[in-house]
Amino acid sequence: MKILVTGGAGFIGSHINKLLLDQDHLVTVIDDLSKGDQCLVDPRADFHQIALENQTELEKILPGHDAIIHMASFIEVGESVKKPVEFAQNNIVGTVKLLEAMKNTKVKRIIFSSSACVYGVPKKLPITENDPLGEQENPYGITKITMEEFCKLYHNLFNFDVTILRYFNPYGPGELHEPETHAIPNLIKAALEKKPLPVYWKGEQIRDFIFIDDLARAHILALTLSGFHIYNIGTQTGNKIIDVIKKIFGIIGYEVPIDDKGERKGDVPVLVASSEKIKKELGWSAKVNLDEGLRKTIEFFKTHRF
Ligand SMILES: NC(=O)c1ccc[n+]([C@@H]2O[C@H](COP(=O)([O-])OP(=O)(O)OC[C@H]3O[C@@H](n4cnc5c(N)ncnc54)[C@H](O)[C@@H]3O)[C@@H](O)[C@H]2O)c1
Repeated sequence: MKILVTGGAGFIGSHINKLLLDQDHLVTVIDDLSKGDQCLVDPRADFHQIALENQTELEKILPGHDAIIHMASFIEVGESVKKPVEFAQNNIVGTVKLLEAMKNTKVKRIIFSSSACVYGVPKKLPITENDPLGEQENPYGITKITMEEFCKLYHNLFNFDVTILRYFNPYGPGELHEPETHAIPNLIKAALEKKPLPVYWKGEQIRDFIFIDDLARAHILALTLSGFHIYNIGTQTGNKIIDVIKKIFGIIGYEVPIDDKGERKGDVPVLVASSEKIKKELGWSAKVNLDEGLRKTIEFFKTHRF
């Protein structure tokens, strides 16, 4: 198939590009490099430095593609509180322009990268796709819900094939966000530099960490789906941050002190996915356990300058 990946110079996109190419798909990447890095884009992909907002250029590139994997987005929650207009413009308006460009060029299949954040504070665990969306405490979450809604609207109005993947907590090699706000890369980097580990809520928060290779695999399965679908992408296992830290210490073979950062407004105490739906319908389940995923991620950061 011929697939266009938006945001393909970012952390998750770069892994998906590689997997697609390894499976002999043709891959076009568009990314404005506002955050990502072109060196993360597999050289076998056809790369275009274009912003989503540039609908004219999108319409030149889109014809002939079988599906779009839409990952381009600003993702940093704290930054979204400071820059709500930029987030709305980039994420929401950018997505609508992409959908319009798709409509005009008759490319009607989209796989959209959403997030577990849309559930807000869950009322029960594990979280299923039928659970209600929750109140949002920051503009990023609102952009994700709105982007989902626009994708659904284009399914309803124009018969687009839409698959929404709600990622829980992705991690793995190549996670080089700037600034980095995600726990695993920050904990590993600090531990490797023998600096105190920044820890909120005494490490009692529980997250469902999904290794990047498992996450990437789910996108491949969604490539041929018709209709409208929503799937959680998680492992169905919650881990306390403090237990992740113990695993990191076990792998690197020494301990460093904890830098107790106290509480952080807006953090949800527990997020754990039910992934039964995608398992039943597409046969997907996570294969890489946290120990193995952490080992691979630590190896990456050991050899990568940060
Ligand atoms: N990383 C996570 O923990 C996580 C969790 C849940 C959902 N997601 C979603 O997954 C997707 C990818 O996340 P990531 O971690 O790879 O982020 P990333 O920042 O590494 O990659 C996003 C890429 O999109 C590009 N981009 C942003 N706005 C653009 C625009 N208007 N036009 C063109 N390119 C643009 C950036 O330059 C960057 O390369 C995002 O949609 C994010 O919301 C990520």
